Amino acid sequence: MAELQLETLSGGVTQVSIKGKVNDLDHQFLSSVSNVSKKLSHILMDLSGFQGGSEKFFTFLSELSERTKMKIITQDKEVISSCQVAGLPTFPSVKSAALSLAGDEAIGLLKSKLRDVPILNTEAYGLLTYMDQPDWTFKKIEMMVKDKPGLCSQILRIANSAYFRRSNKAETLEQAMVLLGHSNLRQIFFFNFYFSVGDLFRAQKEVIRHGQDCSSLAEFICKAAEGSPDECAKVRMGGLLHDIGSQALSFFFPQQYEKVRAISKNESKLSYVAELLIFGTEHQKVGSILAEKWNFPAYLSGIIGDHHYLQAETWNLFTLPVFCANNFLHERDNIPFAPYQKNLEDYFSLKKKELPWQDIKAEFSKALAEKVNPFEL
Ligand SMILES: [Fe+2]
Ligand SMILES: [Fe+2]
Repeated sequence: MAELQLETLSGGVTQVSIKGKVNDLDHQFLSSVSNVSKKLSHILMDLSGFQGGSEKFFTFLSELSERTKMKIITQDKEVISSCQVAGLPTFPSVKSAALSLAGDEAIGLLKSKLRDVPILNTEAYGLLTYMDQPDWTFKKIEMMVKDKPGLCSQILRIANSAYFRRSNKAETLEQAMVLLGHSNLRQIFFFNFYFSVGDLFRAQKEVIRHGQDCSSLAEFICKAAEGSPDECAKVRMGGLLHDIGSQALSFFFPQQYEKVRAISKNESKLSYVAELLIFGTEHQKVGSILAEKWNFPAYLSGIIGDHHYLQAETWNLFTLPVFCANNFLHERDNIPFAPYQKNLEDYFSLKKKELPWQDIKAEFSKALAEKVNPFEL
């Protein structure tokens, strides 16, 4: 005979424990589980005292989970695999399940807060979206930017900078745009977008600076491995925007984010680990949500979502240099970091090149000190 127990945990979450063996024909028991689920939008379902049931029982739970978010607690291998088949997430402890629930809530809250963010109306974003269309033209871009003095002067200044300048000076906006080409123009708009997002999230100067440094250093690594101009441009963008999720988290949840900073500093925990402890989610996940909301290209969402884990192997060509640059910067700034030397070696072997540096830290510091980034405002 199965037994049902209910307990309200601190924070108001209901823990439902099922103990004993569940019989498919015990309709009374199943309908009491169903009645509990009708009243609650989310529950922690503790199956640690569960002593077996048929596949039907897991299908039944899966049906309930369509109206009630359910986090199953179990360490039993058979139960875990039955849950997997039924599409139910499992957790080894009440704590980890509760944290995951808190993460879902934080993400839900963040998504609703994001609805009020007017970011899609920024000029730079409009231009970026336009440039993604297959029939874009310089003429139309000129029309779109001609009454925006800030953007016009940047385009002219960058086209005539030492980085791009050819023998003839670009004198008109159209000449400057043609000289820069699609990819570089896009980068100008992306940098403008980055700064407008920074403004929007009221990012601290050092946070903006971290993105810029990561961008320059990741590009430096990509260039040293003879990455193509397209690869370098993508890596540069990824470096710039990789931590956009932590900007959003610290803007929308400033007090909790202070706790994240304190944990990271006092307990020497990596930033995303401290975020998981406080929010039940991490800035990579939040960044991926933003990337989706703003229709970022796939390579960029890949870097943003994976820059601490390096799980998505297909994106390693772009994510690896950002990972290495980011961790070097954390090491330099005395912030907890993950070792990156091995990944750097992997990146160069992926590119079939020799690692060109003896003293990596010295070379990276030198590159940052000498960096010329034509896109910086
Ligand atoms: Fe990060
Ligand atoms: Fe970072």
